[in-house]
Amino acid sequence: MPTSQTSDLTTILQILKSRKGEFISTEELSKDVEPNSLQERLHTLESQGYEMEIHPTLGVRLNVMPDVTLPHEIYSELDSIKWVDNIFSIVHHDIIASTNEDAKDLARRNAVDGTLVIADHQTKGRGRLGRQWVSPPGVNLLFSLILRPRVDAQRLPFLTILTAAAVATSLRRNYALPVMLKWPNDLILHDRKLGGILTEGEAAEGLVRFGVVGIGINVNCDPEKLSPELSDISISMKTALGKKVHRAAVLAKLLAQMREYYRQFLAGNDKEIVETWKSLSNTLGRSVRLSDGTIGYAEDIDNNGALILRMENGIRKHIWEGDLTPLF
Ligand code: BTN
Repeated sequence: MPTSQTSDLTTILQILKSRKGEFISTEELSKDVEPNSLQERLHTLESQGYEMEIHPTLGVRLNVMPDVTLPHEIYSELDSIKWVDNIFSIVHHDIIASTNEDAKDLARRNAVDGTLVIADHQTKGRGRLGRQWVSPPGVNLLFSLILRPRVDAQRLPFLTILTAAAVATSLRRNYALPVMLKWPNDLILHDRKLGGILTEGEAAEGLVRFGVVGIGINVNCDPEKLSPELSDISISMKTALGKKVHRAAVLAKLLAQMREYYRQFLAGNDKEIVETWKSLSNTLGRSVRLSDGTIGYAEDIDNNGALILRMENGIRKHIWEGDLTPLF
């Protein structure tokens, strides 16, 4: 639930952003904020990098928005602050070990469905299969969403499929980026890695207790400044678009798409999600080699998101985890 300070800052930002570059009277800005707190709220925004002109008679004009992912900035970009049944609850950290670890702790302490944990910097960011997730501070999106679907524990991997389909759809629609999906969790752009998804969770009595979907997206980093192993295989939105992108806007748009797919999933309607995932997959219809050396034809994914691999002997295997390399 947003605090009164967060809700005031959100209201002020929404008005200023809707008429960026125009002066807005202090009466109008004060209307829905705590009495006598406008000056203090404006100072808070200035200290966070919002550049404003405050004129004694004309009011306030927003000139520059900083690229921050603070809760009020995210709320002010969202079309609705509802997740499914709850308000988006946002926990922001300047620096943390891993948003997935923090989200799992919060989930064990009963954080609600749709709680978002976001950080500007991770010191122990984690990828799949025990790998590290490396991101320079303050330029990319690093966040985890706590989800509490009442479904069988086997359905947990489907959250990766749902998230991948939502992120790709949102980036395609809103930024015209031709994002593709590599099973199970890679977001690929121009044959390089744009981001990844790490889904974790806990189950009790065969049902999901909570899922934590961790998402890392290279938004404004310069891949050429990463380590040599990463710079050759990574790409960012900034590199692809040739300009910096506002992270909170990217996040708000993709949360809206995720919420839409998550609602469909809860209603037992996975069809559109699976079809979208398949249409964006660069894995299906190819011969692939798994990290354990198995070779097969990537035929399909099943209802839970496992890869269906047809082996040379015709037998179909459902693969839950691993890395794969397309052969041709
Ligand atoms: C992968 O490609 O292997 C998955 C990468 C997932 C990275 C994100 S960043 C936010 C969240 N917190 C983590 O520690 N990992 C995920």
